[in-house]
Amino acid sequence: MKVHKIAVIPGDGIGPEVLEEGIKILKKTACLDGGFSFEFTHFPWGCEYYLKHGRMMDENGIEILKDFDAIYLGAVGAPGVPDHISLWELLLNIRKSFDQYINLRPVVLLRGAPCPLKDVKCEDINMIFVRENSEGEYAGSGSWLYKGKPNEVVIQNSVFSRIGCERVIRYAYNLAREKGKTLTSISKGNALNYSMVFWDQIFKEVGLEYPDVKTYSYLVDAASMFMVKDPKRFEIVVTSNLFGDILTDLGAAIAGGLGLAAGANLNPEHKFPSMFEPIHGSAPDIAGHNIADPLAAIWSASQMLEFFGYNKWAQRILDAVETIMWEGKRLTPDMGGSSTTSQVGDEVAAILER
Ligand code: NAI
Ligand code: MG
Repeated sequence: MKVHKIAVIPGDGIGPEVLEEGIKILKKTACLDGGFSFEFTHFPWGCEYYLKHGRMMDENGIEILKDFDAIYLGAVGAPGVPDHISLWELLLNIRKSFDQYINLRPVVLLRGAPCPLKDVKCEDINMIFVRENSEGEYAGSGSWLYKGKPNEVVIQNSVFSRIGCERVIRYAYNLAREKGKTLTSISKGNALNYSMVFWDQIFKEVGLEYPDVKTYSYLVDAASMFMVKDPKRFEIVVTSNLFGDILTDLGAAIAGGLGLAAGANLNPEHKFPSMFEPIHGSAPDIAGHNIADPLAAIWSASQMLEFFGYNKWAQRILDAVETIMWEGKRLTPDMGGSSTTSQVGDEVAAILER
C-alpha cells in the first residue's frame, strides 16, 4: 500500500482548527479507498513558537521538511509578531526553498455558495488561477537606506527571469490544453515598461507552441473590473505573484468567500514537497470558538489528492463540499449557518460515505 508522508504545520489562530477537519477527510478517503494511506507528522511552528524561540521554525526546518511528500499548512500570523516576519520566515521561506513556483487557486462558484454578484450563474464563475509563486514582485529584493534619516529611501525590486516566466506560462498553457479551456494572461505592460512588457512577450513566444489554445491578454485594472462585471470570460488565468495574490482574494469574494478558498503551492517536478493550504489567514477574531469554516482547508486537501494522482477522490471531496453548501443544513456562521467547525468536517465525511 502506498503511504504518503505529510508534514502538518497547523500554525496560528484558526489554522489548527481547520486542519484537523482536513486531516479527518484525508483519513476518511484513505479508509474508503483502501489502496493508500497517510502518515501525518505535526510541527509546532508559527507565531507562538516565534515568541518562545525567536524564529518561526526550527533552524533546520527546511531540511526536515524535505523528506515529506507534501506539506499541509493551516495559517500563520498572530498579534505581537509582525506579519512580514511570519509570512517571510515560514510561508515564503517554504515556497522559495522548495521551488514551489506554481500557486494554483481555483475560483469556482459551487451550487449553494453565496455570491455577491447580480445575475450570475454557477457556470459563469469557473476559473483556475495560475499565479507565479517564486519571484516577481515578491522576490524580496531591495534595500532600506539611511533608515530614520531625512533622506531615507526604500527600494523594492521586482524580479522577472526568463526561466521564471517561461515555466509558469508554459504550465498554464499545458493546463489550458489539457482541460480544453481558454487561457488569459493578466499583466500591466503599459505602466510596468520592463517587467510586464517582458511577461507579455514571453506569453506570446510560448504561445507559438500552443496554436490550439485560445488566448486573451488583459491589463490588471481592466481584469479586476471584468472579474466582477463579466466573470465568465476567464477560464485558465496566468499572472504574476502580486497580481495573482490580489486577484485571487477578489476571486474568493465572488466565489463563496474566504471560507471556501484553497490554494496549492506546487513544485510540478516533484523534486521537493508541494504545500497545500487554505488561502485565508489565522483569523484571530474568531480563533478558539470552533466556528471557523473548514471547507477551504478541506478543498486544499482535495488539491493534495489530485496532485498525488487520486483524481477520483479529489472530485468526490469537491462534490461533497458542493453538497454540504447546497443542502445548507450544516454550515458555519460565515456561510449563514450555526454549525461548528467539527460538525462541518463530520458532515463532509458522512457525505463521502453515502
Ligand atoms: P484573515 O483571512 O485571517 O481574516 C479575514 C476575515 O475573514 C476575518 O474576519 C476572519 O474572521 C474571516 N475568515 C477568514 N477565514 C475564515 C474561515 N475559515 N472561516 C470563517 N471566517 C474566516 O485575514 P486577516 O485578518 O487580514 O489576517 C489575520 C492574520 O493572518 C494576519 O496575521 C495575517 O498576516 C495572517 N495571514 C496569513 C495567511 C497565511 O498564513 N496564508 C494569509 C493571510 C493572512
Ligand atoms: Mg493573499
